This record gives sequence, C-alpha cells and structure tokens, in this order.
Amino acid sequence: MASIFKLLSLTLVLALVFQAYGDCSLSDISIRHYETHDYAHGMPVWKVNITNNCICTQSQEKLNCTGFQSYLGIDEALLTVSDTECLVKQGAPIYSSESVIFRYAWLPKFQFKPISSNIACS
Ligand SMILES: *[C@@H]1O[C@H](CO)[C@@H](O)[C@H](O)[C@H]1NC(C)=O
Ligand SMILES: *[C@@H]1O[C@H](CO)[C@@H](O)[C@H](O)[C@H]1NC(C)=O
Repeated sequence: MASIFKLLSLTLVLALVFQAYGDCSLSDISIRHYETHDYAHGMPVWKVNITNNCICTQSQEKLNCTGFQSYLGIDEALLTVSDTECLVKQGAPIYSSESVIFRYAWLPKFQFKPISSNIACS
C-alpha cells in the first residue's frame, strides 16, 4: 500500500517536472533592439529582433503596441499594427529559435511587450 502511494507521488512529481520543462511562456519571447545608424525623416531607424526561445511553436503572437508609431512603413507580413496591438507574422507560427526581424523609425525606441500567444508543443 505504502509503495503504491510512493509510486503515485513519484509519478506526480515527474509529471510536474516534465510539464515545467515542456511548458513555455510569453517570457520565452525575446525582443531585442539594435541601432542601425540609419535615419528616416530625421528619426533613428531601429532593428527589432523577436525570437521564440521556447522549444515549442508559438502562434498568434500579440504585442502591446499602445502608442507605437513609425516613420518607416513596416512590412505587414512581419508585423500588423493596429491601435493597441501588434500581431507578429499575421498570427502564423513562429517556430522554436525562429526570429522575426523588422525595422521602424521613431524616437524614443518603443518597448514592445508580448501580451499573448498560442503555445503548441508537439
Ligand atoms: C536575433 O536574435 C537571436 C537570438 O538572440 C539571434 O540568434 C539571431 O542571430 C538574431 N538575428 C539577427 C538578424 O540579429
Ligand atoms: C499596454 O500598454 C499600455 C501602456 O503602457 C498599458 O496601459 C496597457 O494596460 C497595456 N495593455 C496590455 C493588454 O497589457
């Protein structure tokens, strides 16, 4: 009886460990800014690198874009800007270690913050 109980709790612990390992969250999305030394209409151009550091695919990746502006047109295939939200790659999957790179021009640089995504571990 006691050994069955031990086995059950061991299984539970292992399940939790594997879940924690396999689980990804929004914090696995890294957003890096690089200075380009280019200017568009007098505004500095920034290169943004959004990378999925999760071992799982993330799709429907939305960023908080409240107040975001750019003097440089942004490729809609990479980033669709609406009022308060930006959608990365039009919601298409961003695979593990995949980076989405785009440029924008504004001062100061804008702190994009991930709001939500769909995480699919296979
Ligand atoms: C984007 O960031 C990732 C993760 O840090 C890095 O491996 C990759 O080289 C970067 N890509 C570019 C073009 O800067
Ligand atoms: C987005 O950012 C704005 C300004 O920082 C904040 O007021 C708002 O609550 C944020 N929205 C979400 C969904 O995080």
